[in-house]
Amino acid sequence: MAGETLLEVRDVAREFDGFWAVNGVSFFVREGEIVGLIGPNGAGKSTLFQVISRFIPPSRGEVIFDGHRLFQLPPYMPARLGMVRTFQITRVFQRMTVWENVMVAGKDHPGEVFLNLFLQPRRVREYEKGQAERAKEIVQYFRLWHLKDSYAGTLSGGQRKLLEMARALMMRPRLLLLDEPMAGVNPALKEEILKYIVDLREKGITFLIIEHDMDLIMKVSDRILVMNQGQLIAEGPPDKVQADPAVVDAYLGSA
Ligand SMILES: Nc1ncnc2c1ncn2[C@@H]1O[C@H](COP(=O)(O)OP(=O)(O)O)[C@@H](O)[C@H]1O
Ligand SMILES: [Mg+2]
Repeated sequence: MAGETLLEVRDVAREFDGFWAVNGVSFFVREGEIVGLIGPNGAGKSTLFQVISRFIPPSRGEVIFDGHRLFQLPPYMPARLGMVRTFQITRVFQRMTVWENVMVAGKDHPGEVFLNLFLQPRRVREYEKGQAERAKEIVQYFRLWHLKDSYAGTLSGGQRKLLEMARALMMRPRLLLLDEPMAGVNPALKEEILKYIVDLREKGITFLIIEHDMDLIMKVSDRILVMNQGQLIAEGPPDKVQADPAVVDAYLGSA
């Protein structure tokens, strides 16, 4: 099922004042895969995402996405190339409605500025109509349509997670980096989020997902990467990783 390498991470490291939060991490993700990135709190998972997605600079290493060396490109490029991420703490705009949140996310899309500058007003209107149609499909897909005029600040934690995924989809991602998409969500909605992930993979999206809860992410992942203290300590299919003594140690040690 998995295809060509879509993301390759080579010896990525990030230091904060002498502390190596990420300390030489290498792995790859193939097109069509769901890869889970697990590890105890403080392992460096979110920092690794920050660096891969160009939100913060690396201390060393290389990230290649779809053949592009990301560290040699401006920070806005990963999203334009189709690598889109969500945040551990959702970043939806509380004082905007669900609908506005989704529409605004589409504004970050490649070519938006270009289109507005160079197209005839009629073409711009057609483009915007297309964006609105896409937004409607996405909001309906996540079953948030009845909430489209609600302020995002009034949503439950789980609904906010869905809204954040909806916003990410507006960017037409090829690879979605999800940082704890199920944290703080009730168990029923956790299952629902997992179903969306599996369904979106069927639709052609590749996933790299950070999750603290091993059991949850094991259900959907083709492969698991395990981080501890800034480094990868295990990698492989879920059943193999779950039985790995180093992984058990890392989790118990952090409890
Ligand atoms: N901006 C920062 N400045 C200093 N230390 C940081 C910063 N961001 C993260 N860290 C530290 O790096 C380590 C890894 O954090 P993080 O990547 O958030 O871990 P995880 O997501 O696996 O729980 C933690 O010890 C954290 O305190
Ligand atoms: Mg984190």
